[in-house]
Amino acid sequence: MRRTPKTTHGAFEPPPVPGYGRRTIGFGVIGVGTVGTGTIKVLLEHRREIERRLGCRLELRTICSRRIHHQDLSWLGPQVQTTTDWREVVRDGRIDIVVELVGQLATARAIAFAALAAGKHLVTANKQLVAEYGVELVERSRRYRVNLGIEACVAGGTPILHAIREGLAGEHFTAVFGILNGTTNYILTEVERRQCPFGEALAEAQQKGYAEPDPTFDIEGYDARYKIAILAMICFGQAVKVREIPVQGIRRIEPIDFAYAHRLNRTIRLIAGATRRGGGQLHIFVRPMMLPRGSQLAGIPGATNAVLLEGNKGGHTMMTGRGAGGEPTGVAVLSDVVEIARTMVAGGSTVTPLGYARWQPARVAPPGEIVAAAYLRLVVRDRPGILARVCGIFARHRINIDSVLQEPAPSKSRLPFVMTLEPTRERHLSRAVQEISRLPFLAEPPLVMPFAELP
Ligand SMILES: NC(=O)c1ccc[n+]([C@@H]2O[C@H](COP(=O)([O-])OP(=O)(O)OC[C@H]3O[C@@H](n4cnc5c(N)ncnc54)[C@H](OP(=O)(O)O)[C@@H]3O)[C@@H](O)[C@H]2O)c1
Repeated sequence: MRRTPKTTHGAFEPPPVPGYGRRTIGFGVIGVGTVGTGTIKVLLEHRREIERRLGCRLELRTICSRRIHHQDLSWLGPQVQTTTDWREVVRDGRIDIVVELVGQLATARAIAFAALAAGKHLVTANKQLVAEYGVELVERSRRYRVNLGIEACVAGGTPILHAIREGLAGEHFTAVFGILNGTTNYILTEVERRQCPFGEALAEAQQKGYAEPDPTFDIEGYDARYKIAILAMICFGQAVKVREIPVQGIRRIEPIDFAYAHRLNRTIRLIAGATRRGGGQLHIFVRPMMLPRGSQLAGIPGATNAVLLEGNKGGHTMMTGRGAGGEPTGVAVLSDVVEIARTMVAGGSTVTPLGYARWQPARVAPPGEIVAAAYLRLVVRDRPGILARVCGIFARHRINIDSVLQEPAPSKSRLPFVMTLEPTRERHLSRAVQEISRLPFLAEPPLVMPFAELP
């Protein structure tokens, strides 16, 4: 059992953080893949500067991967130990900070919980771990009086979490919107720029290393969903269950959608967003949206990430930068290590990484209650009376059509056209769209995207 020391004047004060007063701080890296290697390389390159900032030595003691002995580590130097068993890192008395970069949920959780229980400070880049177990991690880190760093989990190399948590701790946020997945933004901007089919832009993203061989996690929006869950915790103090966040990917977006979007002076981006609504509800989602062409998020190029915050007093604040990549993300990981090391040098603890001392369970607004104007793209086998049938369905559901657009198309058997709809409650729209989906002349299911009026 830990004992609370008595001060000279008899009052009780909490024990200092583990490692307080150290002149050399040791850390270990578990997972030596893209981010692990990036982190170590950045440390080797920036060590002198980092140590000048810290005022003490920062020693990488051990690195761990299951196949570490198959990796060429000649650039690393002999003083760093290697192991294939992460438990050795967690048990090592010379290691103060454990850096978890293995990237799967079950192992990452086992490492994180074991490290905290062993009194180690923990840094992780694992968005899934933090989105699913963030509150529990924070509670355990409090219990064991250690610090937790999560900066690399959202927007990789861009320190958005620190900015929200510390730079804007006095703000009342009303909304947060982000382009949080570089792969999908790269694909969408390429489809837009070159008017190439989605599949071609995806294949190119895979070739350039922006997309995984199995791209589902990115292009179906699941990666961005973890990140918006973390942002919702930090901006609003609400712990959202990831599976409650509705998600729509970008797989069906084609050059024709950009052609129509441009006619409407808009463009298409995958937006992860959360807004506060009346009654403490949170509207939270990941979906492709039609943005005004001149808006801030519309201008985010390629694999870049961006977060747009809306605050009661400060209005809009935007941060943009590298969202992934070994070395940019390694900088974020190391920055957490440095922050924790500072607390060990000076005493005290870091700011709680989720920004709140207490959380409320989130009250997610039913998506069906959201009201928005929308874009509907239909691809039909041409015949007379199509427009009358579709308009009839909208009229029955009391949905007003704003405009009907049709670009010239080469084939009458796959003729695309677009309708823009006035603001409508989403559940009414989805009922109407279900009915339209059953019409015999449809060549593929309708594509619906809401309009977002972002600055
Ligand atoms: N890549 C990015 O740009 C980026 C950006 C932000 C955040 N992140 C996050 O950073 C984390 C790491 O991503 P990454 O891209 O670096 O992944 P990665 O390249 O797949 O690397 C993962 C590493 O973990 C090792 N590993 C897996 N299971 C292990 C185990 N049981 N024990 C020890 N080592 C194990 C793997 O090597 P062995 O197979 O040899 O064990 C590999 O070296 C993930 O949570 C990811 O979401 C990544």
